[in-house]
Amino acid sequence: MKIVLPAGSPMHSSDFLFGVATSSFQIEGAADQRLPSIWDTFCDKPGAILDGSNARDACDHLARWEEDVELMVSMGLDAYRFSISWPRVLKEDGSLNQEGIGFYQRLIDSLNQNNIKPFVTLYHWDLPQHLEDQGGWLNRDTAYRFRDYADVVSRTLGDGVYSYATLNEPYCSSYLSYELGIHAPGLKDPAKAKQAAHHLLLAHGLAMPVLKENCPDALSGIVLNLSPCYPETESEIDRLAAKLADQYFNGWYAKPVLEGAYPKLMEMLPKEVRPDIMEGDLEVISHPLDYLGLNYYTRGVYRAGENTSFAQVMPENVALSDMGWEIFPQGLTDLLQTLDEDYDLPPVFITESGVALKDQLVEGTVSDPDRTAYIHQHLGALDLAMRGGVDVRGYFTWSLMDNFEWAEGYSKRFGLAYVDYATQERIVKESGIAYRDLLLSRTKEAA
Ligand code: GCO
Repeated sequence: MKIVLPAGSPMHSSDFLFGVATSSFQIEGAADQRLPSIWDTFCDKPGAILDGSNARDACDHLARWEEDVELMVSMGLDAYRFSISWPRVLKEDGSLNQEGIGFYQRLIDSLNQNNIKPFVTLYHWDLPQHLEDQGGWLNRDTAYRFRDYADVVSRTLGDGVYSYATLNEPYCSSYLSYELGIHAPGLKDPAKAKQAAHHLLLAHGLAMPVLKENCPDALSGIVLNLSPCYPETESEIDRLAAKLADQYFNGWYAKPVLEGAYPKLMEMLPKEVRPDIMEGDLEVISHPLDYLGLNYYTRGVYRAGENTSFAQVMPENVALSDMGWEIFPQGLTDLLQTLDEDYDLPPVFITESGVALKDQLVEGTVSDPDRTAYIHQHLGALDLAMRGGVDVRGYFTWSLMDNFEWAEGYSKRFGLAYVDYATQERIVKESGIAYRDLLLSRTKEAA
C-alpha cells in the first residue's frame, strides 16, 4: 500500500511542506520538571480519563527528543509542528525558567540543522494550574498573561522558529472543556464556555502583533479545528439545522478571527449565555493572519432537534475510526472550498489530519493499511481543493507517534510510529514507511 500524489498536483512542488504534529502535554512526560497544568489536575479526577492514566511520563520525549528528531530525519520531513508547555518555560512570577526554555532551544536548533522547519504552537491546552486558580480562561486577565508569555518566548527563541500558532483549537479548550466538560477543567456550563472562548480568542488577538513585532520573518497565525456540517436530508429544517451547527462549532471561532464578528447565532442565544465583550475586542481578535492552520478529522451531519435547533446524527454504513469518527475525505475538499468562498482566506496549512486505529504490534511490525489509505485519500481531497484555487502550503499528519490522547488516555493510537509504553520503543508503522516513501520520492523528483 502506497501514498501517491495525483499526477500534476501542486503538492509535488518542493515549496509544499509535509510534516507531522505533536503537542507538549501529549508526548513530553517529565512532569516533575515543570509546574502543574490544568490537565495534570484533570487527570487526577476519578473517571476523567478513560484508562485512568495521566501524562506524567507520556512518551518520555523530553529524555528521548534526539532519537525522535532522528526518526523525523529518517522520514524525510520538511516540517515538525509541536507545542511549548507554558508551565515548563515560565515560573509562577512570569519570568523564564531557563532549563525549560533550554529544551526547546536545543530542539529548534537541531531541527534547523536537519532542515526541518519548526512550527511552534504556543497553547495546546496545558494552562498553568496557578492561572486556573485565578479563574483560568474565565478571567479576562489570562488573555493578557498569554500575551506576556508569547512575548517572552518569541523574544527568547529568536529567528529559529519558522511559524508560530497562538492557539490550537479554541473549540476544544472552550466547548469541550467548559460546555461538555470532557476536557480540563471539566465544567458543564454553556455561558462559561462562551466566555472562555471569547477570552481565548482575545488572547490570540493580543499575541499576534507581539509575534509580528518580535519575529517579523516567522509566519504567525492560529490553528482551528473545523468540521463541515451537512444536513441529513435536503429538507429546509435540516438545512437550517446544519447551518446553525456550522455557526456554533465552526463560525464561532473562524468568523471573529477572519472577519472581526461573531456569527448571527450569537443574537439568537439567551442573554445570560452571551459572553461579555468589551469595545474593541473584535478588532484585536481579527488582527491579520499570515496563515490559517486547519485541523481536519471528520464532518458532522445534522437534523433539526426536538428541543434544540440542531441535533447531530451518525450516518449509517460509514467507515469509522477507533475514535468513532466518520472517515470522510471529501469533507476536507468541501471545508476548504466553503471557507474560500465565505472568507478572504490567508494561505492555509493543514496542521493536523490523521486517524486512530486499533494498531497491533505483531512480530516487530504494525500493519495499518487503513491509515495509509486515510492519508492517501485526504491528500487526494486536498489536491482537489488546491486545484479549485485554495492556497494551501502544507500538510501535517497527526501524529509522529502514538501518545496521550486526552480523555481517552493511551487507549487510542494516532501515530505514524507505534509506541511501546513499557519500553518507550518507537516502531515505525507501515503507514509511517509509506509516508516516508512519499516524502523521499518527492525529494528525488525535485532533485
Ligand atoms: C486535536 C489536538 C490533538 C489530538 C488529535 C486527535 O486536534 O484535538 O490537536 O491533540 O490528539 O486531534 O484527537
